[in-house]
Amino acid sequence: MSRHTKEQLTALLAPVNQEHLLRFWDKLAPQEQELLGDQITSIHWPEVLRWFNQVQNAEEPPAIPFSQLSPAPYLPLRPETPEQEALYAQALEKGQELLRQGKVAGFTVAGGQGTRLGYDGPKGTYRFSPLRNKSLFQYFAEGILRNREKYGCVIPWYIMTSPANHQQTLDFFQENHFFGLPDQDVRFFIQGQLPGFNPEGKALLEAPGKLALFANGHGGTLAALRDSGTLDDMEARGVEYLSYWQVDNPMVTLFDPLFLGLHCLTGSQMSSRALIKRDPLEKLGHFCQLEGKTLIVEYSDMPGELLQKTDAQGRLTFRAGSPAIHVISREFIRQLTRGSLALAPHRALKKIPFVDQDGCKVTPEAPNGIKLEFFIFDALPFAHSPLILEADRQEQFAAIKNAQGTDSPDSCRRDLQNRWAAWLQQAGVSLPRKEDGSLDVTLELSPRKAISPQDVQALVEQGAIPREWKPGDTFALD
Ligand code: UTP
Repeated sequence: MSRHTKEQLTALLAPVNQEHLLRFWDKLAPQEQELLGDQITSIHWPEVLRWFNQVQNAEEPPAIPFSQLSPAPYLPLRPETPEQEALYAQALEKGQELLRQGKVAGFTVAGGQGTRLGYDGPKGTYRFSPLRNKSLFQYFAEGILRNREKYGCVIPWYIMTSPANHQQTLDFFQENHFFGLPDQDVRFFIQGQLPGFNPEGKALLEAPGKLALFANGHGGTLAALRDSGTLDDMEARGVEYLSYWQVDNPMVTLFDPLFLGLHCLTGSQMSSRALIKRDPLEKLGHFCQLEGKTLIVEYSDMPGELLQKTDAQGRLTFRAGSPAIHVISREFIRQLTRGSLALAPHRALKKIPFVDQDGCKVTPEAPNGIKLEFFIFDALPFAHSPLILEADRQEQFAAIKNAQGTDSPDSCRRDLQNRWAAWLQQAGVSLPRKEDGSLDVTLELSPRKAISPQDVQALVEQGAIPREWKPGDTFALD
């Protein structure tokens, strides 16, 4: 016997015109009724339908008053005035202090499907490193271990998964003994899901007894942090700040004391790193200002003339792009998630396989359905004094998005090795290069030991990294 009855479910669905979801109820096996009933009751239908109407009635592309849009101010990578010099010095100290005091946790969003990479498994389990073939998760774990050692503190690591990859992610960590991290300091939670709809606003069934449900985007993070008890866990541990990064950017500085310190000293509730765009068409969201609020306008929504616009010095006017690296205050997340989520949903048109009225499976060849997604950066306009700090591309960003070409495993390995080479260069070690300037060696430095130029300098001095290299050498520091 299912715990759910058709009458109870109808009472839930009828007011929102979704009774069609029970079309096959009488023919379902008890376990199928159980699953469908669980799915239906897990959704707050009036709220979800409100979001659906919101995205259906919204203008496409969004009605942004572009003539009033200006670039958001950002702090430069290196201080440019005596005031900034003083602020940065103070911030660096403050950030180090926050880390030593255990006030910072790592937070990785790893709920995506990684469709473009075409890898069958959670993206964090993808093995990418040049010589040791480490997974993204291992690489981050080693970096966290080094930071714990460096600052002599506990750094909890929160990882957001999705229903589709949660168990596999958990198994991976367990099989690998959490890569040396204490397991109580690594916490996983699952992001929320929302139903897919047809254009008339009817939720779709993937099978007669199963809703078509989809991850609600990285903006689902905020509600999931609350609902999973992660905010409470942070509070109990005295953690005030989340250092946020995406699972597919192994180059990110996991805990940047300068960035953390600036966030704290300037009273920002949500801070972001910015990359200076390589060219007008680079696919990064733009940091903008509108009516005194900071926001990110997606590259696909930005009119061509604004993308190309330049300032008096010939630089792109809208040049600050988002690599999705943030620091977020715990209290800000509490504030934002009190009650219903304040962020606006986005519409994604997708091919959604579904069962038709007769129970036949349909696999569409063109987009037929609507998914609702939330974006984490939509929290920025709600944040008090949001801070944007320029980032050094060579030091912060080498994403793995595509199987080949730009932002691929190959480009990531190349960029990582170039960064290690630059750190070695600073330590007085120069590596052989080919005629085209590319490295003529293959190297890998474990983040367990080397997360900064200073670490590399010390390792060279200790003789742990060779000073002399020949063309074609390979070297891994474990
Ligand atoms: P992307 O937007 O690149 O999506 O995610 P993706 O699913 O990884 O890849 P594609 O688009 O299918 O090829 C950016 C980051 O946000 C996380 C991803 O895991 C990645 O770290 N993410 C994305 C979530 O955690 N949940 C989501 O619903 C979407």
